[in-house]
Parts: sequence; structure tokens; C-alpha cells
Amino acid sequence: MLMLKQHFGTNTRGHLVIGGADAVELAERFGTPLYVVDEQRVRENYRRFYRAFAERWPSVLVCYALKANFNLAICKILQGEGAGADVSSGNELRNALGVGIPGNRVVFNGNYKTLSELELAIINDVMINVDSLQELDAIEGLTSRLGKRARIGLRVNPNVKTPTHPYIATGLRESKFGFDVASGQAFEAYKSASRMRNVEVVGIHSHIGSQILDAGPFEEEAEKLMALVAEVKERLNIHLQSVDLGGGIGIPYKPDDPELQPEEVAEHIISVVKRVVEEKNLARLTLVLEPGRYIIADASVLLARVGYTKERPGMPTWVAVDAGMNALIRPALYGAYHHIELANKIREKNEQLVNIAGPLCESGDFLGKERRLPAAEPGDLAAIFDVGAYGLAMSSQHTAQPRPAMVLVNRGKAEIIRKRESYEDLTHLDQIPGWLK
Ligand code: LLP
Repeated sequence: MLMLKQHFGTNTRGHLVIGGADAVELAERFGTPLYVVDEQRVRENYRRFYRAFAERWPSVLVCYALKANFNLAICKILQGEGAGADVSSGNELRNALGVGIPGNRVVFNGNYKTLSELELAIINDVMINVDSLQELDAIEGLTSRLGKRARIGLRVNPNVKTPTHPYIATGLRESKFGFDVASGQAFEAYKSASRMRNVEVVGIHSHIGSQILDAGPFEEEAEKLMALVAEVKERLNIHLQSVDLGGGIGIPYKPDDPELQPEEVAEHIISVVKRVVEEKNLARLTLVLEPGRYIIADASVLLARVGYTKERPGMPTWVAVDAGMNALIRPALYGAYHHIELANKIREKNEQLVNIAGPLCESGDFLGKERRLPAAEPGDLAAIFDVGAYGLAMSSQHTAQPRPAMVLVNRGKAEIIRKRESYEDLTHLDQIPGWLK
């Protein structure tokens, strides 16, 4: 049975249609491997997410997590929608500012920010979520040198267990992020920050993990953060104006995965926030969310050309495509599932059991194992779904494979938003030292 999400279509030629464009034609026109992003879907996802929170709380800032996909055109779309940005490096910050997202709608996260990255953030009035006392000192030092105040929040670790892959669970005590809440370390850090002259302590931040499909952990996170907001007000007289719960809302990758609606998450979080604000008589606060995957993952497909197929007695047939772990590392790295169809045989029966492999010299170089597809032949076009988040953003040049191109489609129109790398792009930074010449 064909399993396509509702924003995809098929046409009379039996081809996959994305954003009004025929996938087979896109592959012919732009080559493969090719990331295709559906602009309308990105907009729909953002709007739905924003509305879910904004309808329930008067002050909401949705900061798109650029790490999911930092392409400038994607950033521009979200800037146009009014999104803020969550950045985790100086270059992501440059992208956000570059497309016109105002610095005061950007949050800068991460456990290792260099001095020059911090400087860029301070100059642009970006909210810095501080991850350690040493970082706090570094910021204070910079503010004196720059003669400018810094707006900060503290990244706290609320010790919330999340049902996700251990590599992307970040809210547990043993994870590297944030100040520990339970032991009082986070409270002490607020105390230290409040003594600093040029540091304005305005927020609290945490991110408990990614690809979470249950609202429970977000509610627990909200409880723990709001308790600290109340404590900081009572004991230190600091009014935190910004409560940032991070990103992490997952999407269904497998056809039978559950769906977590942003409305449900908003409902759970905001019931906690409301209650604590009323009980503790807290001042008005802005709720900040940092979705990455929810906004961009299902808006993009990776198209890859089938080159060879190979039977193995008693085993699935190997189907080799021109995109591998260099183009999409999630299956190799996390054992992640990405749904796959043949874009040129979208209505044919899935009669063959296959493993889909890339062209690299590693056994981990596969995109899917034990999948049912129509009988695959050289020249067919594989479509790998839900690749918009952490796809091209985590790609590499392993085995000197150029990174794929990315194209934006909107109601049938298509334009390149990231060029395919060339041989020159792969080598132009290399140098042969004089003594080898
Ligand atoms: N905010 C912070 C501080 C984060 O660390 C992250 C993701 C996000 C927001 C966005 O989370 P999202 O809404 O996308 O779940 N490479 C992995 C995901 C790593 C996520 C890291 N942090 C993957 O491919 O699944």
C-alpha cells in the first residue's frame, strides 16, 4: 500500500508530486542526488506550530532551530513568516541576521561558544543561553570591553527522561548540557549572574531532547523550569521574562508512528505555566520554543537514482542509489527510519524485498533495510522522505562525494537553493606543501 503524507501527490504518469512538481522531472532537470523542499509545507508547519502556542498564551516567540537546516532560502522563508531563530554557532547566527531576523529575536545556545561568537551575539543584542560559569565570566569580560550589556538566560538541566535515541536525549543529568537543577547548581548560577554589572539576567532555557512523540516530558520540563523561575523570584528578586523550553517535537517517520500535535504540547506546557504564574504572582513572561524538525523535516524529500541492483539468494535484493551516508547520515548514525518509495513507480505494487544502499565503501552506508518496493531497475528514482531536518545539514564529503544540490519547489515552480558541489569545491581548500612539490 502506498504511504504518502497528505502534502504529497501523484500524477497520471504514476510519478510522485512534491510542491506541485513532478519528482521525475525535477531529477532530470537538476540531477541526483537532489534534496527537494516544499515551500508551502514549511510555511504550513511554522504557522500551525506558532498558532498552537499563540492561541493559548499572550506572548510567544517561536525560534526556528537553524541546526536542522541552515540553508539561507529556508531561513528567509521563516524570516518572512515572522519566526525568530535558535542558533548554535556564530555562522548560524550570521545566517539568521543575514536574512533579516532581528538580533533580539535570536537565541544563542550551546556548550562551547567562542569569544568571537559571543562578541557577535552581544553586539547584535542576541539572547545568550549560558551553559557554564566560565562562559558567564567570559561574557562579563566581553561586556566591559565592548561597553555593552548582554542579555542572558541560563541553560538548565532539569533531568527529564525522554523516550528517544540516547544520542539526541539532552535533558538527563548525565548529558553535557546546562546547570543542574536538582542539586541547586542552577540556582547558584543565577545568584552569580545577578552580581554581574553588565549582564542582564532575563531568561531560563532547556532542551530535553529531540524526536519526542509524547507530551509528558514537555510538561515535566515546564514544571521544573517554572519552579525555578518562582524560586529565583522569591529568593533573588530576579524576574525572568523569558521561559525557553527548547525544541524536540517529533514527527512520524514510519507509516505507523504516532503523531504528536503541537496543540497537545502547547496545552500541557501552558497549563503548567499559567498555574505557576497565578500561584506565585509572577510578572508577564514570554514563552520561547525552538522547533527544528517539526518545521522542516517532512517538507523535504531526497531523490536518488538507482544505479544497480543485485540479488542475494534468500536475502533482500540490494538496490544501490547515488545518495549514501554522505548525503543522509541519519540511518547510519541513529538507525533512523526514513520512508522510501520509487518516485517513478509510485502506483506499482511493492512486490520486492530490498535493502537500499549508497555508493560508499562502508557497510553502514544504507538508507533502508528490508523494505518493500516495486521491482527496482537501474534508472529508477528513489524518494527518501522526511529528510528536511538534519539531512543536508549533517552531510559530508566522505569518499570525496560532493554534497547534493537542494531545490525549492512552490506550486510547480522550482529553483536551486543550494548548488551541487563540484570537484573543484571538494579540492580547492587542499594545499600541497612546498617540500612535496
Ligand atoms: N534547541 C536546542 C538547544 C537543540 O539542541 C535542538 C536540537 C533544538 C532546539 C531543535 O530540536 P528539534 O525540534 O529539531 O528536535 N541530529 C539529530 C537531532 C539532534 C538535535 C540536536 N538539538 C537527528 O538527526 O535526529
